[in-house]
Amino acid sequence: MTTENIRFAARVDKLRASDIREILKVTQRPEVISFAGGLPAAEVLPGKELARVASDLLMEDGPIALQYSPTEGLQSLRQRIADRLHRRLGIRRSADEVLMVSGSQQALDLTGKLFVDADDAILCESPTYLGAINAFQAYEPRFLSVPTDDDGMLPEALERALAAEDRAKLIYVVPDFQNPSGRRWSIGRRQALLEIAARHNVPVVEDSPYAELSFDNDPLPAVASFDRGGTVIYLGTFSKILSPGLRLGWVAADASMLRRYVLVKQGADLHTSTLGQMLADRFLAEYDLDLHIERIRGLYKSRRDAMLAALDEHLGKDVRYTRPVGGLFLWLELPEDMDARQLLGSCLEHDVAFVPGSAFFTDGLHDNTLRLNFSAMPEERINEGIRRFATALHEAMESLAVGV
Ligand SMILES: Cc1ncc(COP(=O)(O)O)c(C=O)c1O
Repeated sequence: MTTENIRFAARVDKLRASDIREILKVTQRPEVISFAGGLPAAEVLPGKELARVASDLLMEDGPIALQYSPTEGLQSLRQRIADRLHRRLGIRRSADEVLMVSGSQQALDLTGKLFVDADDAILCESPTYLGAINAFQAYEPRFLSVPTDDDGMLPEALERALAAEDRAKLIYVVPDFQNPSGRRWSIGRRQALLEIAARHNVPVVEDSPYAELSFDNDPLPAVASFDRGGTVIYLGTFSKILSPGLRLGWVAADASMLRRYVLVKQGADLHTSTLGQMLADRFLAEYDLDLHIERIRGLYKSRRDAMLAALDEHLGKDVRYTRPVGGLFLWLELPEDMDARQLLGSCLEHDVAFVPGSAFFTDGLHDNTLRLNFSAMPEERINEGIRRFATALHEAMESLAVGV
C-alpha cells in the first residue's frame, strides 16, 4: 500500500508546507547568513539558569514534574502570568482565566477547531502571520483580508467587511510588532477594533508574542485591556521572552470561553508539559524576567540599527523598508516588477536568505515583498548579509533592465 492509494481527509489537500520551514532546511549550511527564521538570539536563551533550576526541580519535586497534570495548567504559573498581563499590558484576567498551551501556535489550532466550520470567514490583516494561515487552513475557512495601514486595520474597512459577511467567525490580529510587517497598531485603532467587533458579536483573537519587545517605550495597552465584555481572546507566549523550545504559551479569556478551550485541548494533548511549566515557574520565582527582557530589547535594538544602517548604505532608494520600533522583523518592498521568490534563488547563490512576502498574504499576491529577521545574527553578519543581499538585488535589477 502506498500513500497514493489511501484516502486522506479532503482538508489535507488544502494544507501546504510552511514556506519558512522549507527555506530553513536550505539555510542550515553554516556559510548561509539567514534572515529567514524568526529565532530569538542564541545569546539570550538562559541555558545556565535553566540548567540550575532544572536540576533543583528534579531533585526536589521530580515525581510531580514528571507526572501528568491538569489541562488548565500549573496554578502558580497561571497566577504569575495573570499578574504580569495586568502589570505590563493592562489586561485584567484572574489566574483561572488563563489556560496554559503548548506554544501560542497550539492556541491558533485550538481556535480554529473551536470556531471554524468549512466556509466560515476569518478576517485578518494584510499581510498576516503565516503560521496562523496554516493553522486555520485545516478547518477550511475563507480568509478575508481587511485593508491595513501602518496604524492597523482601517476601521471603516472592517465595518464594511463585517456588514457584508454573515459567516464571520473571528477577527485575527497581531497588533504589536507584527510578524511579518513589524507594524504596531495605534491605541485609537485598538479601541476602534474592539468597539466594532463587540457590536457585531465577533470575537477578536489578539495574538501577541512581541508586545514586550518594544525598543523605546513600555508596551502599549493590549486590545484586551479595553475589553469589558469578553470579546477578546488573548494569546501570549514565552517563546520570544524566555525560550521557544519550552513550548509554553497561554490563552487569556473569560471563564466561559476558556472552558471550551479546555475541552478541545483535552482532545489534543491532555495538558501542556508539566516539566516545562514547572521550569518556567521556578525561573520566574528565582530570576528577574523584566531584567532579562531588558537585555533582549537592548540586543535587538542594536541589531535593528545595524540592519537599517546596512540597508541605508547598500540599498538607498532602490527599495522601501519599514523602521520597526520593536519585535524581530523588518518588511521590505522591492520595485513592483520584481519577484521576491526569484530574488531568493539568486540570494541563496550568494549565501544569504529571507522569506518572500507573498506567503503572508491570504491571496498569495504581493510578489515584490519580503521579510527580514534581525534578531538572530550578530551585527557584523547582518552587515555582510545585507551587502550580499544588495549585490544579488542589483544584479537582478540590471538583468530586468536589459530584459534578460
Ligand atoms: C504572530 C505569531 N503568533 C504565534 C507564533 C507561535 O509562537 P509559539 O512559539 O508560542 O508557538 C509566532 C511565532 O513566531 C508568531 O510570530
